[in-house]
Amino acid sequence: MRKVGIIGWRGMVGSVLMERMREENDFAGCEYTFFSTSQAGQDGPVIEGRTYTLQDGDNIDQLQSNDILLSCQGGGYTSKVYPELRKSGWQGYWIDAASTLRMEKDAIIVLDPVNRSVIDQGLATGIKNYIGGNCTVSLMLMGLAGLFEQGWIEWVTSQTYQAASGAGAKNMRELVNQMRIIGENCENLLDTPSTAILDIDRNVINTLRNPAFPTENFGAPLAASLIPWIDRAMDNGQTREEWKGISETNKILGREEKPVPIDGCCVRVSSMRCHSQAYTIKLNRDVPMADIEDAIKNQNDWVYLVANNKEETLKELTPTRVTGTLDIPVGRLRKMNLGPQYLSAFSVGDQLLWGAAEPVRRILQIILQHLGEQ
Ligand code: HSE
Repeated sequence: MRKVGIIGWRGMVGSVLMERMREENDFAGCEYTFFSTSQAGQDGPVIEGRTYTLQDGDNIDQLQSNDILLSCQGGGYTSKVYPELRKSGWQGYWIDAASTLRMEKDAIIVLDPVNRSVIDQGLATGIKNYIGGNCTVSLMLMGLAGLFEQGWIEWVTSQTYQAASGAGAKNMRELVNQMRIIGENCENLLDTPSTAILDIDRNVINTLRNPAFPTENFGAPLAASLIPWIDRAMDNGQTREEWKGISETNKILGREEKPVPIDGCCVRVSSMRCHSQAYTIKLNRDVPMADIEDAIKNQNDWVYLVANNKEETLKELTPTRVTGTLDIPVGRLRKMNLGPQYLSAFSVGDQLLWGAAEPVRRILQIILQHLGEQ
């Protein structure tokens, strides 16, 4: 029986992963060990009536005894433990939700509905590191991979509307707390129907600008506002989140030698866990809309088209609709006034599912299947 170690199963991405693994009955057929960096020896998850005792996530010998290790523990853990593990001679498969190893030559960024052939080639040639992609990139590709596969894309811009969850659990709490304080401060004005709207507006902005307003995690108010900066600065004026668009997309697609230009502005908005994106796509020819629609909707089992009208858009193309599902709606699809080769589209996806836990969950099953076939 193959041995699989999971580290970081209690955090936000790890919890979503555990939920999905339970739903898909993934725990059957393997021997699982759960590791913790702070609670070794204590009770871990209960699966099918069995309580797993937590092992020490810093103990290289214990980690080493697994065929596959899957980490949702974060980049700091990967930087610390991964090199030691390899140095110790461990030859197993390393699956990681963190970005640390993504761009390494001996790592594959996993998004199997989009790059199964790249993954299969990696497995066949002995690659041992399989890393989940940046959420924005994965969610874009789950929506638009059909167009990339057809070879129709000359370039893409993606203007993002990224959820609080991408910044972490503490940030989600901070966002809701910000909302609460805005609501509480405004309550009396809001409950009086005769209040002038500009008085309500003034009240809200005064709340946001109050130095006591909680912004410890985001660094600025997000509720009733937005933050057009995600991650750290690159030398060329992009943020790192924006840089990932071109580098990770082309690596996932296995076309680093001939990259498709991708750029845009990444913006944090007050959505809880769904990232949305507005695309401008320059096609390399005037492709008929019916062909574009077919290419998008037939690429994978989760993407679907939303009719470009108000009713369907409000019903289907929002974080409220998509949260907690694997659905990837693509809508607002139309040729632009710029010319027949310019396409506009909008997509929404759950940042914690296809953006984080699901590609990692699936690669574990793919690797197990590969090992079973050897
Ligand atoms: N970097 C992403 C964000 C999250 O901040 O939304 C994970 O890829």
